[in-house]
Amino acid sequence: MKKYYITTPLYYVNYKPHIGHAYTTLAADILKRHLKAEGRDVFFQTGTDEHGINIERTAREHSKTPKQWSDEIVVEFKDMWKTLHIDYDYFIRTTDEYHEKQVQLVFEKLIKSGDIYKGNYEGIYCSSCENFYDESELVDGKCPIHKKEVERVNEETYFFKLSAYQDRLLNHYKENPEFLSPSYRANEIIRFVEMGLKDISVSRTRVKWGISVLSDPNHTVYVWFDALLNYITGAGYDVHNPDNEKFKSLWPCDVHLIGKEIFRFHAVIWPAMLMALGLPLPKKVYAHGWWTVNGEKMSKSRGNIINPVDVVREYGLDTFRYFIFREVPFGQDGDFSTDMLKTKYNSDLANGLGNLFSRTVNMVRKYMDNIMPDKPKDSEIFSKITLMQKDIYKNIEEMQFSSALDLIWKAVSILNKEIDDKKPWEMAKKDIEGLKKFLNEMVWCLRLIARWIYPFMPDTSAKMNMYLAIGNTADKTVESQKLAPLFPKKN
Ligand code: ME8
Ligand code: MG
Repeated sequence: MKKYYITTPLYYVNYKPHIGHAYTTLAADILKRHLKAEGRDVFFQTGTDEHGINIERTAREHSKTPKQWSDEIVVEFKDMWKTLHIDYDYFIRTTDEYHEKQVQLVFEKLIKSGDIYKGNYEGIYCSSCENFYDESELVDGKCPIHKKEVERVNEETYFFKLSAYQDRLLNHYKENPEFLSPSYRANEIIRFVEMGLKDISVSRTRVKWGISVLSDPNHTVYVWFDALLNYITGAGYDVHNPDNEKFKSLWPCDVHLIGKEIFRFHAVIWPAMLMALGLPLPKKVYAHGWWTVNGEKMSKSRGNIINPVDVVREYGLDTFRYFIFREVPFGQDGDFSTDMLKTKYNSDLANGLGNLFSRTVNMVRKYMDNIMPDKPKDSEIFSKITLMQKDIYKNIEEMQFSSALDLIWKAVSILNKEIDDKKPWEMAKKDIEGLKKFLNEMVWCLRLIARWIYPFMPDTSAKMNMYLAIGNTADKTVESQKLAPLFPKKN
């Protein structure tokens, strides 16, 4: 049975994780939790990118070896994923022995097939990007992304025959419109490939911190060529046994989640590498947008890097998980502001969901004698809310997380309004049977909401379910507990 396979980029270990890394990794977690709740078998891989000149330099600045340095940063990443309740299946490091070995074997295989050949590279390199540039791409002679001085290199190198894959790539984009997602980002890739592809340099002689080329150990493998291969090596790809069971159960990948700045690597170079290896392509590469902070790019020098741990400490994990996916459509850029977060916390969580939940549970406890009838059969409100599920699930599966949350919160406000309109506190005085029927409907609606928010807010979902397990005798302790607000209001 083929598992649903989700990946994040392998993050560079030059600094500890921040909100940007959390964003992609949480998106993968949300998708996984949703699919698992629907009974699908899912494999979710994340990890770290540890080779290359940039890491080598950062480690040196901290008087550490690159390996020592990487080991420390890896702990930061793993701790962060624990704090954010990320349910990944496998954490791969590009320094893992199995990965390194397979990268070496892939390189040799492609030398043999003629897809990799030796030559000389003369040109421009930005070590912050770990990317080569054409003179024409520079801005004022500097890297267009980092605005930093670039390096001139002139060295022997191995090239990958990217140029040979232009037509096949264009054909693949055309026949698989989902491959480049979201669709509004597809054109930039198609135009780039149509302009003509050049062969790319995939080895360095000056960079020592990298995987050495087996047949020519003066060379180390280009860090991107190394890192991209994680998606198959982590899934059990074996050059000598590509049909092994594990790999067959995972490949092709269902979705590579990435940030928009590395779309070309994933949508052009990576599929060409797979074609050269004779492997099927991932079904989808999804490039999301970028977070800025109060309108500015996050950077160490500006000191404006958002650490999710700080937000979680003040507002709770689920608030963070909710906020970064509610406000900004996944795909578009977003600006992070704690003022906005606080506003949304009070309106959507404290007043919206929290209030709905406590009003309902308190009345249930007061009037229902701990007895909850079966799923309502002839309930207008329950049918109406149930009908929304299909679109919510579709949105999650298409990575339209903010649309899914919009719909869930639409249901929350419909239900809050239902309470306001039906005035159950008045029914309590004259129509106790009617009140019980109404509360039963509300409980069943809230059970749906608890399931829907589960991928986004797993702890809140679990808490809701605990209190909504009414009538279950095993739950006496819960029933005697005072109901604390899910989201206490903040001033
Ligand atoms: O590019 N907003 O690693 P990286 C949104 N090692 N997402 C952000 C973000 C922001 N401000 N900042 C980072 C690399 N990200 C390579 C990848 S994959 C084979 C190799 C997220 O540490 C986003 O997913 O620079 C982005 O693509 C990734 O972190 C870049 O991480
Ligand atoms: Mg980067």
